[in-house]
Amino acid sequence: MSNKKILILPGDYIGPEIAAEAVKLLEALKAEGEKIEWRFGHLGGAAYDAEGHPYPPSTQQAARAADAILMGAVGGPKYDALPRAVRPEQGILGIRKDLGLFANLRPALAYAELSAASSFKPEVIAGLDILILRELTGDIYFGQPRGRRTNAQGHEEGYDTMHYSAPEIERIARVAFEAARKRSRRLCSVDKENVLETSRLWREVMIRVGKDYPDVALTHLYVDNAAMQLVKNPKQFDVIVTGNLFGDILSDEASMLAGSIGMLPSASLDANNKGLYEPIHGSAPDIAGQNKANPLAMILSVGMMFRYTFDRADIAERIDAAVRAVLRAGHRTADIAQPGEKIIGTREMGDAVVDAFRRLR
Ligand code: NAI
Ligand code: MG
Repeated sequence: MSNKKILILPGDYIGPEIAAEAVKLLEALKAEGEKIEWRFGHLGGAAYDAEGHPYPPSTQQAARAADAILMGAVGGPKYDALPRAVRPEQGILGIRKDLGLFANLRPALAYAELSAASSFKPEVIAGLDILILRELTGDIYFGQPRGRRTNAQGHEEGYDTMHYSAPEIERIARVAFEAARKRSRRLCSVDKENVLETSRLWREVMIRVGKDYPDVALTHLYVDNAAMQLVKNPKQFDVIVTGNLFGDILSDEASMLAGSIGMLPSASLDANNKGLYEPIHGSAPDIAGQNKANPLAMILSVGMMFRYTFDRADIAERIDAAVRAVLRAGHRTADIAQPGEKIIGTREMGDAVVDAFRRLR
C-alpha cells in the first residue's frame, strides 16, 4: 500500500507555529510505522509573499495530488491592504472551490477540565459532544443574481439570491447521514421551511435521502429555534446539518459552548472524503511569534484527518485521548488557563501531547 499523502499549508502568523506541533505528531505516527508522508506548501499571505498569489499553481498541483490537507490559518495585518483578488482569504476560498470541498464539519466538544472557562453552567455543557455540518459551497453566499440597483422609488438597493439545487442538498445530506451513522444515529436538519423556498426543497431532499438511512432518526428544526435550543440544552443534539448561511452562524454559536477558540478543529470534505483540515481560529497576529498559541485545535484537526479521510478512528480516538490526558494533567496554554494556573507554551503543549500519545499506544 502506498503512503497517504498529506499537504501541509502552515499559512501566516501563528499558522507555522501550530503546524510545527502537528508535524511532531505525524513524526510520532510515522515512527510507529504508519504509511504517511507529507510535504509543505504555501497558502494565503505566505503564498503571496513567495509566489505573488494566495493560491498559486504550485499549491494547486500539490493540493490536487494530496489525499488530505492540513492548514494552519491565513491572513493578518501585513496583508490587509492588498487588493481583494490577492488577499489571503482568496486562498482559502480558492482551494475549497478547486477541490469541491462542500461539507464543513465542526465538532463542538466541551472538555470537563476546561468548564470553568466556559460562560455556560457546567451542567448545561458537561459531556457535550456534538457535530455541526455546514454546506459550504452553495446558498446565498454564491447565488446569482446579486448586486446593486436603483429601485422604482429611486433608492439604492442591494440584493442577494438564496439558491440550492437538489443535488447540492443531496450530497451534504449523505455526508450528514453517514456521519450520524458513525455516532449516535440522530440527525437534526435545520432550515427555515416556513418562509423560504430553498428550505422547502432542503427539507424534502433530507426526507427523501433519509429513506436510505432508516437506522438514523431524522428531525427538523427552524433555524431560529435551533439557535435557542443550542444554548438552552445543547446536549439534545448529536449531528446537526444545515446550509451555508445558517451553518456559518450556528457553528460559531456552538464553538462558544466548547470554550476556547484554540481547542476546535474542523474538516471540509469532498464527495470522496478527501479533506482540508484546519483549526476554526484565525492567524492570531496578536500572539504570533511568542510561543503562546494553543496548538490543540491544530492537533485535533490531525485527528479528524485520520477519522474522516484515512478512516482510522483508532488513531483519531488516540489523539483525542492524548489531548484529554494533557488537560487532565493540568497542562495549559494561556488561552485556556485559569488565574493562578501554570502556563506553558506552544512547543511544550505539543511535546506533552506527543508524549501522551506515545504512552497510549
Ligand atoms: P483569530 O481567531 O485569529 O483571533 C481571535 C482571538 O483569539 C485573538 O485574541 C487570538 O489571539 C486568539 N486565538 C486564536 N487562535 C488562538 C490559539 N490557537 N491559541 C490562543 N489564542 C488564540 O481571529 P481574528 O483576530 O479575527 O483574525 C486574525 C486574522 O486571521 C485575520 O486576518 C483573519 O482574516 C484571519 N482568519 C483566518 C481564518 C482562517 O485562516 N481560516 C479564520 C479566521 C480568521
Ligand atoms: Mg464564521
